[in-house]
Amino acid sequence: MNKTFTRIDLIQIFIDKLKAERYLEIGVASGAVLLEVRCRHKIGVDPKFRIKNRKRITRNLLYKLFREGIFLNQVTSDQFFNTHKAYLHEKPPQVIFIDGLHTFKQTLKDVHNSLNWLDKGGVIVLHDCNPPHKASATPALSIPEAKRNYQSENDNGAWTGEWCGDVWKVIPYLIQNHPDLNVCVLDADYGLGIISRKIPSLSPCYYCLSDEMHGMDEFQSLDYDDLMANRTEWLNLEKLANLQGVVELHTCQK
Ligand SMILES: C[S@@+](CC[C@H](N)C(=O)[O-])C[C@H]1O[C@@H](n2cnc3c(N)ncnc32)[C@H](O)[C@@H]1O
Repeated sequence: MNKTFTRIDLIQIFIDKLKAERYLEIGVASGAVLLEVRCRHKIGVDPKFRIKNRKRITRNLLYKLFREGIFLNQVTSDQFFNTHKAYLHEKPPQVIFIDGLHTFKQTLKDVHNSLNWLDKGGVIVLHDCNPPHKASATPALSIPEAKRNYQSENDNGAWTGEWCGDVWKVIPYLIQNHPDLNVCVLDADYGLGIISRKIPSLSPCYYCLSDEMHGMDEFQSLDYDDLMANRTEWLNLEKLANLQGVVELHTCQK
């Protein structure tokens, strides 16, 4: 491989391997991934797109006319899952990319909601699961807030601009609480979490977040030092050299 392997490469591998026709992306920003991946139906969800208004309206109009292309929903992920149940039931996405609000709690909620609607044999990719240093793992709601918090707690320590938040906690949480799932992190592009059902033929099933809340505090209170001490094991970290085996595991018999 002579270029840096990114989330776009991994998502496209899953779309191609599963012959997926429906792709959902939570957290789109300027569309660097959504506009790039090739799939017949692409749905983007973001409360604040950075794709120009006119382009958005045109794309949604084309989607309505031709029933394929890109459909953009300017709402939060919670609002999207709450208001598109009939649509998701009729057209469950086969590949879902989660890259929205970078907090443990919201990302876990996004994963649960995604598992509720993911098609049989589908795969979820989760960005930012392997923060490279302490500053990048600062829990916060946004980059400016993370920078402020990190610098006030670390004597104005250097801020590189890289930020993953505490999304990483979702991975050990799922490994501990969901033995029904295959969960690992590919060591590329800030950590690409990969989640699929162990029994791929199962239909979308209903994961209730409130039932799971009891276990969340334990994970919420973890910090970067805990991750440093347990990174490979807690993230089930897979080297890029194992890409083929990882893809096989998450797409076998599908
Ligand atoms: C890191 S950016 C996404 C980048 C994009 N996926 C990419 O790979 O280029 C995160 C995005 O999540 C959006 N976001 C924040 N809160 C959200 C929420 N509750 N639901 C969905 N998206 C959210 C932000 O507006 C922002 O555009």
